[in-house]
Amino acid sequence: MSEEATSRKLTELAKRRGYFFQSSSVYGGVGGFYTFGPQGASLKGHLEDAWRERFSVQEGNMEIDAPTIMPEPVFESSGHLDTFDDMLVDCPECGESHRADHVVEDATDHEDAEGLPIPEVEAIIAEYELVCPSCGAGLAGQAVDDFNLMFATNIGPGDAQPGYMRPETAQGIFVEFPRLKAYARNTLPFGVTQIGRAYRNEISPRRSIIRTREFTQAELEQFVDPAGEGPDCSSVADVPVRLYPIAEQQEDDGEIVETTIGAALEDGVIADPWIAYYLGVAREWYETVGVDMDRFRFRQHLPGERSHYASDCWDAESEIDGHWIEIAGFAHRGDYDLSKHAEGSGERFTVFRQYDEPQIVERATVDPDMSYLGPEFGGDAGAVVGALEDLAATDRSAFDGEVVEIDLEGETHAIPVEHTGFSVDEETIAGEHVTPHVIEPSFGVDRLLYTVLHHAYREDEVDGEARTYLALEPEVAPTFVGVFPLQGDAALEAQARDIVAGLRAAGLAVTYDDSGNIGRRYRRQDEVGTPFCVTVDYESLEDEAVTVRERDSTAQARIPIADLAETLTALRAGERSFAELE
Ligand code: GAP
Repeated sequence: MSEEATSRKLTELAKRRGYFFQSSSVYGGVGGFYTFGPQGASLKGHLEDAWRERFSVQEGNMEIDAPTIMPEPVFESSGHLDTFDDMLVDCPECGESHRADHVVEDATDHEDAEGLPIPEVEAIIAEYELVCPSCGAGLAGQAVDDFNLMFATNIGPGDAQPGYMRPETAQGIFVEFPRLKAYARNTLPFGVTQIGRAYRNEISPRRSIIRTREFTQAELEQFVDPAGEGPDCSSVADVPVRLYPIAEQQEDDGEIVETTIGAALEDGVIADPWIAYYLGVAREWYETVGVDMDRFRFRQHLPGERSHYASDCWDAESEIDGHWIEIAGFAHRGDYDLSKHAEGSGERFTVFRQYDEPQIVERATVDPDMSYLGPEFGGDAGAVVGALEDLAATDRSAFDGEVVEIDLEGETHAIPVEHTGFSVDEETIAGEHVTPHVIEPSFGVDRLLYTVLHHAYREDEVDGEARTYLALEPEVAPTFVGVFPLQGDAALEAQARDIVAGLRAAGLAVTYDDSGNIGRRYRRQDEVGTPFCVTVDYESLEDEAVTVRERDSTAQARIPIADLAETLTALRAGERSFAELE
């Protein structure tokens, strides 16, 4: 079975069994929007809970929940209004719009077309005589344009206050920094997380829920002191990782580097300790939720590929259908966002860094003689004072001679130093205001969900019959246990329903099923990835015990009803193995 066939079968299963399907299909549907059905919503919720537990609770970070629509100035400052663009090319025949860089990457050996300037992309389309992926018409000579990916809206009636659906949850955290730093008692480092929807008007949404127009991100903004110490990486030093750094990507025979987080940091393959730390945490976490580590790697962004705010970025990538897809990005955003929002809002986006000991510093100041400047410069005297103050702060040697030269609207003026009141004084300061740097692990929940399903998809044969099952981790499976009465018998049904109530009271996700033969009921649960099934039979009425069946091995064990909740809870937590029970 080819990998493409796996994806096709998975998409069909997802629709039939309620994982996900195209939204609004009764009205024809529209590309890039999906509804998660009962199984999908549950799996997604479990993945989000697991992420929250690991990246927010265990890391001691704060979680917030910000609005998805934000006013225009936010995106003017963040740079999304100007630069959050993809390259668009329209087909002259069918009118379909395509991402020009994807057209190039899919049909040539250019791997990083996204980072090329538009004229170069136009030239490649012409040189290779590339065609429309929808109808096959030639695209040579068609203009390639920038297309902003944000969904625009108006806040309130009229168009006086434009707003945008946030293209990343991150901005909801950055704009609240002045308040968040107070909750963190003005102490770096601290982290803020958010799980929520993001919106991008993708030119060509494709490959099921991998590229959609509305999706969920789980983001962590780690605010750090640029001169501060990195995190303690000892807990992740031995985590094995497969890395694909820039240097290897640029070699013809470049290879994946198999190493550990500790070694990669020591060798300088990963430059920033915070990024290294979170790559290690993420690698371990991904494994616990069911990402196959033989189909997983971290790839460093090539320079032309990085977002406008990032100075370095590593993607977590999973293999699907023989292709690597980005499921998370770990970016070094520097002070880009906080500085831009400080500039745009006029608010303070800094943290006061207290020195261990107060420091004595020299400060150069001016105290100009206005009885001289007033008559000399008239209405420009104030501007002269400002220029002198700037000069004293930036270049005190300018005051070494008998006159100081300042520039005022392109004209140079010489002012006798004796009229500037220049002096250098000592001052004791307790600390300084610094703009924190941001390290951002940013996870896509939908792509993770797809990866988890794809990596869990299995086909085998049971009792001579073909079977499809999802080997989902018990921690994230939508339903943990299916309970069945063996036959349509009132006594069996009553006992099965009692068991359901008891297991639900113990906090387990349980489904009750009494339709069809027992084999079909097992198949149904296997197909949605339910790890265990419990069957109540006539013996159960006598011995107060039930048959528990494990999904992957189909092995069975007889368990007393009185121990059932405790046993299943221990299996769920990985404290016991099914083999012990058999
Ligand atoms: N705040 C940083 C940021 O948004 P990104 O790499 O653009 O970075 C982060 O997005 C993650 O969001 C990606 O790794 C991916 O998993 C997910 N993502 C981005 N665009 C997506 C789309 N159109 N459909 C589904 N998931 C998407």
